[in-house]
Amino acid sequence: MAAYAYEECLERSYRINWKIKDVLGTVGFDRGRPWLPAALSGAKGIFCLNAEEKRKLTQVEMGAYAHLFGFVEAFIAPEMVELARASETVNRVAFEALTNFASEEIKHMRLFREVRKMVDRTLGFPLELLEGQDQVAQVVLGKHQGAVLLLTSAIEWFTQHHFLSAMKDADELDPLTKEIFRCHWLEEAQHARLDHLETVRVFREMTEADRDQAIEDLIWLLAAVDGLLQQQVAHDVTNLGRYLGRAFTAPERQEIHRNLLRAKRHCFIESGMVHPNFQELFLAVTTPAQQAGVRGAVDLLLQEQQGPPAQG
Ligand SMILES: [Fe+2]
Ligand SMILES: [Fe+2]
Repeated sequence: MAAYAYEECLERSYRINWKIKDVLGTVGFDRGRPWLPAALSGAKGIFCLNAEEKRKLTQVEMGAYAHLFGFVEAFIAPEMVELARASETVNRVAFEALTNFASEEIKHMRLFREVRKMVDRTLGFPLELLEGQDQVAQVVLGKHQGAVLLLTSAIEWFTQHHFLSAMKDADELDPLTKEIFRCHWLEEAQHARLDHLETVRVFREMTEADRDQAIEDLIWLLAAVDGLLQQQVAHDVTNLGRYLGRAFTAPERQEIHRNLLRAKRHCFIESGMVHPNFQELFLAVTTPAQQAGVRGAVDLLLQEQQGPPAQG
């Protein structure tokens, strides 16, 4: 299994540490370019939009993408504070690395808040975005710590995958968008390794019954994430209509909704669950029966068709 170390994560983190003002710089978003790459966007499969409308859709999608990162960081930061406390007197370097991790997530939340303001200013109207961040964080943190850690680990590994596979070499992508997610990727690389270390530690100390509960809660959390994605997709469709000044017919709404949901499920569920580093961790801390349970639940979620509401 991968051999990560708290000390190395902390050292790398100190070397990388960036400031929000340096990331956002002085150059704004370019409305003439896509803001989300094709691999992470639902635009490519939509036939009722022309090329310019598809580009605008990626801009709406990026606003939601940045918002959703800030949304999940609202539970990741306090989770890391709690884990740091558990190490405070037994592993000083783990305590330091996890406290620093929490503080980086707080910085990311502020970064994404600034990004959302800039997106709204550039598009000329406030995007409708998923609400209830603090309530959702409370519910997530009420679930088994092993479940929260596995979900966090999947999220932080897909952050790595998204930048490296879809953004890094995408020449047409808006440069500011690329810089934001490059900087996020740099710090998240340490987070993903720390998640791995903490997940292994926490699962090692669990009873069989605890592990079953953790897996049951993980399946519940994945379904809850899907519910949140569906809500954000409905907002995306509304945001796009407003941006384009276009009223969609029912079949058009359905087509846009279906493609956006497929893309968001891929981004926020599938690409994390199938990431090889997440899989390595997941297989190490679960039994074949637990693995089959999670795999079956994820397959069901990814296959499920959800149409948009008739109106709205
Ligand atoms: Fe983050
Ligand atoms: Fe993170």
